[in-house]
Amino acid sequence: MREFILYGGMIVSDSEVVAADLWVADGKVAGWLAPGAGEKLAAARPGVRLISANGLYILPGLIDVHVHLREPGLEHKEDFVSGTEAAALGGVTTVLDMPNTIPPVTGPKELQDKMAKAEGRLTVDVGFYGVVGRDNLDAIEDLAAAGAVAFKMFLGPTTGEIRPPEHGALFAAFEEVARTGLPLVVHAEDREVIEYWQNRLAGLGDTYGHFLQSRPAYGEAAATELAIRLAEATGARVHIAHVATAEGVDVLRAAKERCEYVTCETCPHYLTLTEADWPRLGNKLKILPPVRSTKDQKRLWEAVQDGVIDVIATDHAPHLDAERTGKSLWDAPAGAAGLETMLPLLLDSVNRGRLTLPDVVRLTSERPAEIFGLAPRKGSLRPGADADLVLVDLMQRRVLRGEALRTRAKSTPFEGMEVQGVPVATYLRGELVASQGDLVSTARRGRVLTPGSR
Ligand code: DOR
Ligand code: ZN
Repeated sequence: MREFILYGGMIVSDSEVVAADLWVADGKVAGWLAPGAGEKLAAARPGVRLISANGLYILPGLIDVHVHLREPGLEHKEDFVSGTEAAALGGVTTVLDMPNTIPPVTGPKELQDKMAKAEGRLTVDVGFYGVVGRDNLDAIEDLAAAGAVAFKMFLGPTTGEIRPPEHGALFAAFEEVARTGLPLVVHAEDREVIEYWQNRLAGLGDTYGHFLQSRPAYGEAAATELAIRLAEATGARVHIAHVATAEGVDVLRAAKERCEYVTCETCPHYLTLTEADWPRLGNKLKILPPVRSTKDQKRLWEAVQDGVIDVIATDHAPHLDAERTGKSLWDAPAGAAGLETMLPLLLDSVNRGRLTLPDVVRLTSERPAEIFGLAPRKGSLRPGADADLVLVDLMQRRVLRGEALRTRAKSTPFEGMEVQGVPVATYLRGELVASQGDLVSTARRGRVLTPGSR
């Protein structure tokens, strides 16, 4: 029995911060002990190690439900090794991997290939999405049977150009996913609206203003509304990805009054950056859906604080700077790496009084685990849960630098930002995987999570 006690720290749940020692045995949380009781227990039980968490907060490891690990097909941007090491360094112990790889995860064979490639190369746990595309409705059930943890539908155009089912067939697609009981994550932007504006604006210029005009907020609101209507009509559990507009928030707020199984997420870039950062960041700011105005940002913060937004996820979408530089805004690839910067940014928000530590746990562990069926094993530090932990120091400061990141992208839109609050140790099932900004274990004991392994 491998046991240790983290003593002298503060344990954080989604509702409270408690001075307590955390007892871990065989990779699981064994219990919370009154301060001082951990040292007594260790003295009485030979083989129990004592590890000081003095001055630190102990949170459940983050569950990032929106990550593009890029393997197979785009390994020069990221792969299972680099992406899950980046996760561990960022305090993220579970990631859900998006299906817009090459090939995309349209059927069980593609899913099984991903699982086989991931075996033995993961530093944190990974679950895989299947895609709901134009031609694979007959594969949805098989994807679920093969172990997909959720489905993704791209209503709007993005990296990989995975088209959704025809407009008229969307009902059948939602119904098919509803039958599996798994969440359907929707990239909610209206494709036809975007294509119309892109064509109309072509040749007129490529300022950030043109880019925003090509992806109008009403396109996000309309696609969000459509996805919710389909969820209500079919019983599919819809989760709206990366909400970026005030209008999108308004649609979700109204829908949540009547429909309990609609959930949504936003991302740190929408809460931190605005269009005003374009002159400084250039193509590093190109992310889909786009980062917009301070008005949108304000509405998103309100929705995070009052619970309309359930989850904060990274949308970790690495691209190399070399792929971005010298390109027009239209031609540059879209997306930003985020696994190593999400927790520092959220902790900085705690220091600024915008969030509490329990909010962070609710938004990045507790709710993700509930929505994606990973609870009670993941998402909390209740006894019996996997001992996936992140220790954070709210005092330490760090300047975020792309060059210093483990992700293969070596790039961040938060370049040069100084934050206060950093993860200092990450444990996966009781094993220390990252400490003080360095990887510790190269054992790669991360597992592929499937609904059956919960
Ligand atoms: O900016 C984005 N990049 N948005 C997406 O929806 C996809 C992602 C990617 O895969 O690059
Ligand atoms: Zn994405």
